[in-house]
Amino acid sequence: MMRVAVTRRIFPELIEGLRADFELVDNQSDATWTPKELHAALADADGALLTSGERIDDAVLTQSPRLKVVSNVAVGYNNLDLAACTRHGVLATNTPDVLNEAVADHAWALLLAAARRVGESERWLRAGLWKRWTFDMYLGAEVSGTTLGILGMGRIGRAIARRAAGFGMKVIYHNRSAVPPELAEGARGVTLTELLQQSDHLILVVPYTTAAHHLIDGGALAEMKRTAVLVNIARGGIVDDAALVAALREGRIAAAGLDVYENEPALHPGLLELENVVLTPHIASATRATRQAMAQLAIRNLRAALAGEVPPSLLNPEALDHRRR
Ligand code: 8YV
Repeated sequence: MMRVAVTRRIFPELIEGLRADFELVDNQSDATWTPKELHAALADADGALLTSGERIDDAVLTQSPRLKVVSNVAVGYNNLDLAACTRHGVLATNTPDVLNEAVADHAWALLLAAARRVGESERWLRAGLWKRWTFDMYLGAEVSGTTLGILGMGRIGRAIARRAAGFGMKVIYHNRSAVPPELAEGARGVTLTELLQQSDHLILVVPYTTAAHHLIDGGALAEMKRTAVLVNIARGGIVDDAALVAALREGRIAAAGLDVYENEPALHPGLLELENVVLTPHIASATRATRQAMAQLAIRNLRAALAGEVPPSLLNPEALDHRRR
């Protein structure tokens, strides 16, 4: 029987379905495996179901000679060294599309909450400080009718842009590669500098790569409007969190809504001291239906790879001609 490692507690009812066909090494707890535990679990595994918190690099692949597939239960795959997977003939897969709408919804939740000071005013109210209503209390930023900037016009970026139509917003975007006009949702492509300077509010949806590391640093933040809200639902490390804390503290941008952080689950301590930031714990795709769909797609990818087929969302087709059998 082939052996499959499941690195996290992922809906047990879905994982149970694997038990009939595979011997499972299942981390049923919420404690993340240490790199050593991960190495041990993968050492004689044929396949692995992982989340973006587990790193698969050359060392792991070398020490796991039977491993044929690493199936990420995530669309982002910066935890996978794709070149190393390909070199070792290991198929790598992710879960695109099934989370587009949930993640786009969360981007809007963060944008609206940060712009309209939802967290800040709720904390004040819960602290029992609301004694009288005043006409100018908690004045927020206008969202409807303003210009929305999207950095990364992929599938999730487009889902965010579609929602902007309901808010009567003009949408501009910047993307590494050209976006065919029919996929741009009526948005206009601009340079990164134009995006920073012209966006009333900016949402980051760009995948993490070394080139994207600290793309939003102190210099980029200085280009933004002082009234702007910045939202990051992409990956920690795209924003320089220390520079963001300084910009928020000094009012160089109005507010931020963040779901991802440089060293999550650790946070830059400055973030917790600020009122003008809304913080969520990497939950943009967290609806039951979406997380189930992600797990199901990851399982389909894993099963297909172990059956010698081509998985539906294969990231490295270059590995097919020398895949491990
Ligand atoms: C995942 C994500 O829930 O898909 C991604 O890239 O960041 C989230 O949707 C998380 O990474 C777990 O793997």
